[in-house]
Amino acid sequence: MKKFNTEYSAKNIDESVTLYGWASKVRNLGGLIFIDLRDRSGIMQLVINPESSCYEIANTIKSEYVIRVSGIIGKRSSVNKNITTGEIEVIVDDIEILSTSKEIPFEISDTTTALEDTRLKYRYLDLRRNSLKNNLEVRHKITMATRNYLDSLSFLEIETPVLCKSTPEGARDYLVPSRVNKGSFYALPQSPQLFKQLLMIGGMERYFQIAKCFRDEDLRADRQPEFTQIDVEMSFVDEDDVMDVAEGLVRDIFKKVKNIDLPKPFMRMTYDDAINNYGSDKPDLRFGMEIKDITEVLSNNESNLFRGVIENKGIINAIVVKGDYNNYSRKKLDSLTEYVKKYKAGGLAYLKIAEETTGSIAKLLSEGELSLIKSKLELESGDLVLIVMGDKKIVKNSLGALRCKIAKDENLIDNNSYKVLWVTDFPSFEWSEEEGRFVSLHHPFTMPKDCDIDKLLTDKEHCYSKAYDIVINGYEAGGGSIRIHNEDVQEKMFEALELTKDEVNDKFGFFVDALKYGTPPHGGFALGLDRMTMLLCNTDNIRDVIAFPKTASASDLMSNCPNKVDSKQLDELGIKINN
Ligand code: AMO
Repeated sequence: MKKFNTEYSAKNIDESVTLYGWASKVRNLGGLIFIDLRDRSGIMQLVINPESSCYEIANTIKSEYVIRVSGIIGKRSSVNKNITTGEIEVIVDDIEILSTSKEIPFEISDTTTALEDTRLKYRYLDLRRNSLKNNLEVRHKITMATRNYLDSLSFLEIETPVLCKSTPEGARDYLVPSRVNKGSFYALPQSPQLFKQLLMIGGMERYFQIAKCFRDEDLRADRQPEFTQIDVEMSFVDEDDVMDVAEGLVRDIFKKVKNIDLPKPFMRMTYDDAINNYGSDKPDLRFGMEIKDITEVLSNNESNLFRGVIENKGIINAIVVKGDYNNYSRKKLDSLTEYVKKYKAGGLAYLKIAEETTGSIAKLLSEGELSLIKSKLELESGDLVLIVMGDKKIVKNSLGALRCKIAKDENLIDNNSYKVLWVTDFPSFEWSEEEGRFVSLHHPFTMPKDCDIDKLLTDKEHCYSKAYDIVINGYEAGGGSIRIHNEDVQEKMFEALELTKDEVNDKFGFFVDALKYGTPPHGGFALGLDRMTMLLCNTDNIRDVIAFPKTASASDLMSNCPNKVDSKQLDELGIKINN
């Protein structure tokens, strides 16, 4: 097997070598020809003298030709400190062109200005860029660290099916028609959730898998239709046991991949605190700007504005932007108002704190109210207070988003820091407007808190579950729960979800049946491998960490997929397309 370019150094000077790779840059300096030979590891400078017998061939080499060269390693007259082979070069005496290349559609460089769509169409060229290669290396290191860590704790790596029955993860399924059973469909797994629980019933005790998952949902910068989970399940455990393993794994990954020591243990925050203080169940703790509730302070205010909100059981919340409010012109405040309106907020009120405080609601406040707000929000002269009022969910959501936007705009985030936390005590249910009923926030097999089991049918709004998410820098990096292992709690849960016996039987009868044959208490978690890689590569685009990703409209621009299939294939499947 060939050696990599970067395996050679000044120690190898005067040695004969044979190298393979791509001609990344070719320069003819009116005599001497210089070629930057690129392989996966990096660049080696090649020099071809006019007297060399291979000079003529060298003269025909263009960008991205694949070549084999032989020669002697020499010392460079001018050292290039930017590359690991910068002290040496190869004086070439033999060249073979292994394949030529058409003119490439964009420059293979980390500073390329090519559009992402062009890079995705020619992904195999894009992969030749250093940054993508480095990201895939990080991804590899994460999977290797995962396998080693979990193996050291006696977890077994077990594969589960890809053609399966729909799983209850909550997104739309990707369906695969069956030819043998016309009219029937497989679903691609949204996660191996049921299978991993069945493995616990099957006595495997400690399972993991680096599992492909498929979800047909609206795509975002951190979401792909096809993504990978580090999926883990364990028997005879409680919440702390599972969180210990997950923490150990995440800590080990950060250490192995980036030599970063994460704090031990990770901080924990309840779901309710995360929503109340940060407006999100995945709070970014790299900056402050917590959301403060000033409803109470304004509860006796006479103005129609505040009275209306309070009478409608709404809330009035604020965030504080420290510094100089003069940086916020009318125009800038208007654009922030438009921003919160995207989150359904009615508007954005503000106060500019000074000896004489001004702002859109300044005139509505009594001296006493203003002084209470100042002390509650620890305000100083120069601060800007941004206020949203109305329905709790909308207020929290819009201020949570605004907080992140301002931190980004004002460069308040240290991009090289990591803030990791557990968000715990998720509600068991959330109200679905679409379905007009409570649905599972996680999935129907999530164990409620012991004290809430009795409330499942009577007080769904206040039922909490043994579920936890790992949040890193504002991303949900992973999540999991303790599962229901007893039939009576499971039945109660189905009843709470208003699922009929027939619906349960049809959807997951096989699973409910399995629970009846001696199910160990069990729980687990799944880390998003793509998101972990994004975090460790400091990118906010999930496509940067996947070799062959899909676009935001779930297509692959390189192979043009999804695509139409011929009518013979459809006939065999008994499928007719309605246009
Ligand atoms: P959950 O649905 O929270 O849990 O998924 C676990 C983790 O997978 C990642 N993730 C995604 N990454 C990229 N694109 C997507 N479309 C996408 N969807 C999810 C996230 C998320 O935290 N079966 C449960 C786990 C368990 O309970 O054990 C599950 O799938 O990082």
